[in-house]
Amino acid sequence: MTFNSHNDVVLSVQDLSISYLTPRGRLRAVSHASFDLHQGETLALIGESGCGKSTLNLGLMRLLPTNARVDGGRIEYTRRDGAPIDVLRLNDRQLRQFRWSECSMVFQAALNSLNPVIRVRDMFYDTAAAHGKRFRRQVRDRALDLFRRVRLDPERVFNAYPHELSGGMRQRVLLALALLLNPQVVILDEPTTAVDILTQRTIIEVLKAIREELNFSTIFISHDLSVAAEMADTVATMYAGEIVEIGPVYELFYRPRHAYTLGLLEAVPRLSAGEEELVSIPGSPPDLIEPPAGCKFHVRCPFATDRCRVEPPPLEPVGENHLAACWEKARVLTHALENAYHDAPR
Ligand SMILES: Nc1ncnc2c1ncn2[C@@H]1O[C@H](COP(=O)(O)OP(=O)(O)OP(=O)(O)O)[C@@H](O)[C@H]1O
Ligand SMILES: [Mg+2]
Repeated sequence: MTFNSHNDVVLSVQDLSISYLTPRGRLRAVSHASFDLHQGETLALIGESGCGKSTLNLGLMRLLPTNARVDGGRIEYTRRDGAPIDVLRLNDRQLRQFRWSECSMVFQAALNSLNPVIRVRDMFYDTAAAHGKRFRRQVRDRALDLFRRVRLDPERVFNAYPHELSGGMRQRVLLALALLLNPQVVILDEPTTAVDILTQRTIIEVLKAIREELNFSTIFISHDLSVAAEMADTVATMYAGEIVEIGPVYELFYRPRHAYTLGLLEAVPRLSAGEEELVSIPGSPPDLIEPPAGCKFHVRCPFATDRCRVEPPPLEPVGENHLAACWEKARVLTHALENAYHDAPR
């Protein structure tokens, strides 16, 4: 029983903008991103390379490189005891507490970044020790329990060096490490990208099982739509630093309202014609130092009108918990329904 009013939002991001200072000028990597992450929810972030997915999540963890600036916005996290945390205002000591214990991240390409001379067990002991947990027995028990849950041979893996493990095993070690201090939010940046298809399957199955058991919320970054479709409750499409559409997974995949989401769906290889045809979205993402006026997607958009070229579309409700920033949302939906993506990911 709790005395708080019922509100299960663990992470609320409001109007967050992040830029990088580069020799050519200010690069706007994330522009006015807003979303709420609920308890136990999996949010998938999809979008082409360079659209700002990693920057957004590094921002959430306050792990941005030194040439990055948070230009505005709020990140509000709610602890298990209900206490609100203003993430952008945490000092260094509070940040150390926040990372891993409240919110942890498995980094993109982390697979190859494991220090080869440090045994798995020492990574776990060191991480725990950095958070004041020095009872090695407890750390070991927790690690072995997590290894079992992610389907690793606990004793063997605990004592192994990274090079003795396959890519998929290392990925699961990193997942277990991210869960060591029982965070409420786990950010996974492309967890299935660098591994083969069978390993990818194992990782997905493990993730699905473990998030039920341990009840954490996930932000899942992927450019593989079928993986996102399988994992997510909610999907957010990012384009050129903006969240251009967000909504329940089935809504986004079956009733898309943004031309770019539709483009991504059409770019999924389709097997129905008997052969695999890959349609990619023509053109390339815009320069984020001098982005185009109006809707940033208009240059590549088959639905674009004069209005799209000058006036940026606002992110507006189009259904229950579904928002899209597209002037031609009605035409996009009609097109999607007429071309029913029966073999789209589900
Ligand atoms: N340290 C940096 N300094 C300057 N620009 C950067 C830096 N890191 C990223 N960028 C730029 O910021 C933009 C967003 O990059 P980001 O890595 O967040 O994209 P992403 O969606 O994660 O891409 P990917 O799918 O390739 O991982 C890109 O234009 C990228 O070139
Ligand atoms: Mg990235």
